[in-house]
Amino acid sequence: MDQLSAVPSAWLWLDGRSLLLFTLVLLLTAEYLRARRPSSFPPGPWAFPLVGNMFSLDPNNVHGDMTKLAEKYGNVYSLKMGPLWTVVLNGFSALQEGLAKGDHMNDRPEYPIHSDVLPNQGIIFSNGYVWKQQRRFALFTLKYFGLGKKSLEFSILDEFMYISKEIANHKGKPFNPLLIMNNAVSNIICSLVFGHRFEYGNEKFLKMMKLLDKGSQMEGSIWVQLYNSFPRLMRRLPGPHRELQSIYGKISELIKTEVDKHKEDWNPSEPRDFIDCYLNEIQKRQDKRDDEADAGFNEDNLVMCSFDLFGAGSHTTSVTLRWALLYMSKYPEIQAKVQAEIDGVIGRSRQPSMKDCANLPYTFAVIHEVQRLSNIVPLSVPHATNRDIQLGGYTIPKGVTIIPNLTSVLLDKNEWETPDTFNPGHFLNEEGKFVKRAAFIPFSAGKRLCLGENLAKMELFLFFTSFMQRFSFSMPPGVEPVLKPCFGFTLSPYPFEICATPRKE
Ligand code: HEM
Ligand SMILES: *[C@@H]1O[C@H](CO)[C@@H](O)[C@H](O)[C@H]1NC(C)=O
Repeated sequence: MDQLSAVPSAWLWLDGRSLLLFTLVLLLTAEYLRARRPSSFPPGPWAFPLVGNMFSLDPNNVHGDMTKLAEKYGNVYSLKMGPLWTVVLNGFSALQEGLAKGDHMNDRPEYPIHSDVLPNQGIIFSNGYVWKQQRRFALFTLKYFGLGKKSLEFSILDEFMYISKEIANHKGKPFNPLLIMNNAVSNIICSLVFGHRFEYGNEKFLKMMKLLDKGSQMEGSIWVQLYNSFPRLMRRLPGPHRELQSIYGKISELIKTEVDKHKEDWNPSEPRDFIDCYLNEIQKRQDKRDDEADAGFNEDNLVMCSFDLFGAGSHTTSVTLRWALLYMSKYPEIQAKVQAEIDGVIGRSRQPSMKDCANLPYTFAVIHEVQRLSNIVPLSVPHATNRDIQLGGYTIPKGVTIIPNLTSVLLDKNEWETPDTFNPGHFLNEEGKFVKRAAFIPFSAGKRLCLGENLAKMELFLFFTSFMQRFSFSMPPGVEPVLKPCFGFTLSPYPFEICATPRKE
């Protein structure tokens, strides 16, 4: 009896084991085939099964490792981040060919950390028809308020009065400009989206800033990368990635209260801000037919688009302005030249306006050079192919992540006379006139180009010129400015203190 029953169960066991082995071999082979580069794919380092090159870069020297890869494999090379193939574009010509000319590299990859909560919403991470419509609407609205009566120029100059008062309070003593700069710049987006600014130190405002900061910090964490690479597994696990989703939930709640307030006293014929315009648009499209529903105009998306304008528009501009102050205190002779130009064209009492821009070529060149050298969004925002494409002699299939390396263009040795040195001459001709440079692409290029480019340029020009008109910036005695960037999603200055000495009227 014992013997009899032992035979089939041993067979069953063997069967189970070989089945397991067979499955394992099958899975490994499948994984091996997947880890192999597709044919005529851009070259790159060998990718491990499953994790790919996720852990093959030294976390303390990712930058150095990447440089080596670009040197070894050329201007178009590939990496595998977890299960996802990624192609990096280096140098002006590869980026031109990829972003500016082609229209098939302008999708975003789908990131489960976002799409699990809000699929295809907002502007930054949406794709297809929804993205096109939302982007067009936001651009139109920005233009509307840029030219309208309660214009953005007015909000910026108004905001400068507040921030200059705060700065003057320090009476030339060292202070850290981080918080007030963030507040001032975010207030421009607040005016645009909410129709009002917040006092510096307002509790609700500070809460939102803190949440945004924490969110953008977490975006870069390994947890979020793991979540995006292995969503099916990570959805079941606890971990910090859950916190990110809850942070985004809290920010959305704050924006929603503003939307609700708008609905109480909204007058469709007199839109005051982005929210009013958007509410109009929702209504307009409701009255039309249902195919308009695909364009994604609804209140959830209003919240998400507002969120995107904050997320993309405040930190970036604030970081750039802080770099500008650092560069000016590093190069006092350049600062003096900017001030002399402003004194000559505007004087010291009238506030600057966008019209002055054409008459301040040196100041304008300095702002461009700050943006070029500070290179705050070094790898842009990831793109993705939306069909199989040819690039640089390679074939890149649909759905591959594309990383445009903006650094490689902004510091390209073939494009700039002194790529690693602060030199406003990059943007001036022999007669001292301002010249545009094709390789100046801090806002990226092509159809996915930064939506806020014009607003950012306006903010940088008006704030910077006003700062230079009213104050001279210098480091505290004995302190050298640190121009080495702090790595994150953006390259920002390490926290620093600076002295602002008021200039006489
Ligand atoms: C100095 C300031 C800024 C810099 C350097 C900057 C840079 C960038 C870059 C590199 C991208 C990615 C483009 C691409 O995917 O190819 C981007 C996207 C974007 N930026 Fe900016 N930006 C700045 C300010 C702003 C401002 C003020 C706003 C707000 C109005 C804004 C809104 C956006 C949006 C909505 C996107 C996503 C566009 C899309 O996916 O279609 N940015 N920005
Ligand atoms: C981007 O370009 C810079 C400058 O050429 C290089 O040092 C860096 O490693 C590149 N990054 C990537 C991801 O290839």
